[in-house]
Amino acid sequence: MGTRLTVPAVRARKARAGGEPLVMVTAYDAPGARLADAAGVDMLLVGDSLAMVVLGHPDTLSVTVDDMVHHTAAVARAEPDALIVADLPWLSYHVSPQDTICNAARLVRAGAQAVKLEGGAERVPMIEAIAAAEIPVMGHVGLTPQSVHALGGFRVQGRTAEAAIQLVESAKALEHAGCFAVVLEGVPADVARLVTEAVGVPTIGIGAGPDCDGQVLVYHDLLGLQDELRPRFVRRYADLGDATVEALGRFAADVRAGRFPSPSESYSLDSTEAAALGLYAS
Ligand code: KIV
Repeated sequence: MGTRLTVPAVRARKARAGGEPLVMVTAYDAPGARLADAAGVDMLLVGDSLAMVVLGHPDTLSVTVDDMVHHTAAVARAEPDALIVADLPWLSYHVSPQDTICNAARLVRAGAQAVKLEGGAERVPMIEAIAAAEIPVMGHVGLTPQSVHALGGFRVQGRTAEAAIQLVESAKALEHAGCFAVVLEGVPADVARLVTEAVGVPTIGIGAGPDCDGQVLVYHDLLGLQDELRPRFVRRYADLGDATVEALGRFAADVRAGRFPSPSESYSLDSTEAAALGLYAS
């Protein structure tokens, strides 16, 4: 076990100030968290993308705080060195500051060191409430998947000068409210650069070009484990989906042909016990 990355260490990793770019990847279970941690990523995001890539929903709106707690606890049981950030799901931070703090606290008690929520200046009261409860908060602006219906689909945001200025203002509001980092999703690269230059906390991009202070991708996307959605910003580092289908196919063929299991893959009975059972008697 190495040294666990802390929130202040992440906050200080502004690439503009000479820091190394931050690496974040989503994780939803203990094996995935262990593998990502062994690869040396800085942060594991228990994203509400859980709904789509693990639970098979068409958007992220179906996951609950209970779901997020369950999966955050699984990731935490891997005891990663990476910082664990857990998403507050839709409607868990919209009702009241008290409700928001209780939901964020459940994620922390499950093992998260920080929580993430979506939205701009309208979230400032909730961010301030969470931060006042000593829970570190990460913001998320641009294409915010929990707003899929309000946005009219998963669409790139900030494409006009006015919208770009609005994004810069949103990110500044999040920083001033106490966010230690901000995810920028689905925005033009030039706009992500403007936002990154405007705030003193690290920006972490996904579909936001190369000028953010870090990058995040969804585990299943970068490993080629799902084909349903393939946005242009996803770079595939492996085709584990194809490799998995091929391996499962060989298992099925071996079972059907009687090649699995072999004697070395089976447990044997002591010869005395076998004799007592009348086995192998001539
Ligand atoms: O839920 C998620 O996976 C996310 C990332 C796309 C940033 O929020």
